[in-house]
Amino acid sequence: MPRILILGANGQLARNTTPFLLEQPKLELTLYLRRAKRITNPDPARVNIIEGDVLDRTALEAAMQGHDVVYANLAGPMATQARNIIDAMHATGLKRLIFISSMGIYGEVPGEKYRSVLDPYRDSAALIEASDLDYTILRPGWFMREQTISYALTQKGESFRGHYVSLNSLSDLIVKLALDPTLHLRCSLGVSEV
Ligand SMILES: NC(=O)c1ccc[n+]([C@@H]2O[C@H](COP(=O)([O-])OP(=O)(O)OC[C@H]3O[C@@H](n4cnc5c(N)ncnc54)[C@H](OP(=O)(O)O)[C@@H]3O)[C@@H](O)[C@H]2O)c1
Repeated sequence: MPRILILGANGQLARNTTPFLLEQPKLELTLYLRRAKRITNPDPARVNIIEGDVLDRTALEAAMQGHDVVYANLAGPMATQARNIIDAMHATGLKRLIFISSMGIYGEVPGEKYRSVLDPYRDSAALIEASDLDYTILRPGWFMREQTISYALTQKGESFRGHYVSLNSLSDLIVKLALDPTLHLRCSLGVSEV
């Protein structure tokens, strides 16, 4: 079972995904976040909590030690964060990265123009795609709180389908990616409700 490091563990999608990951009996998790007192450890036997900032390279490298998968669930200066993550993964010998981005970064949503608010998402994806990491970038539609798990994937170069996706669908996909190191390798996937 892999050991997974979640960066930005207090994010909405990360908080939704943590219990999905913990359904895997032997999986171990590290939750990396700023102001760690905001969360309660859901399973102290298997979950480690580290207070840290992704922009703190030393803390990030220390947190990566001993893990198999990095799942980045971030917002803000995504390109600087991506650079730090890539460099820290190189330094610690980690290869597998699941990186949450957004629909629209390639201007792939029919009827919608590219918006400059997506620049940090576009630039971070470009850095990751240029790296030698075993990455999977997810480009979700708008999050929905519905319980349903039902989603379709589109590859880079294809038009995005729909506009929405449930948090549970994304969490389901993130678990599959975390468990299978060969799944959707070096892919940037649009994820939307079927
Ligand atoms: N909501 C949607 O419908 C939607 C649709 C498509 C894509 N997305 C994107 O998907 C991503 C994940 O969504 P989400 O709702 O889970 O986002 P979120 O709730 O805003 O979570 C992002 C997390 O990133 C953390 N973070 C930012 N900078 C950090 C740093 N330097 N070090 C450590 N942690 C840092 C934040 O920590 P703090 O809590 O400490 O600030 C926050 O917990 C976001 O980039 C979002 O824009 C969202």
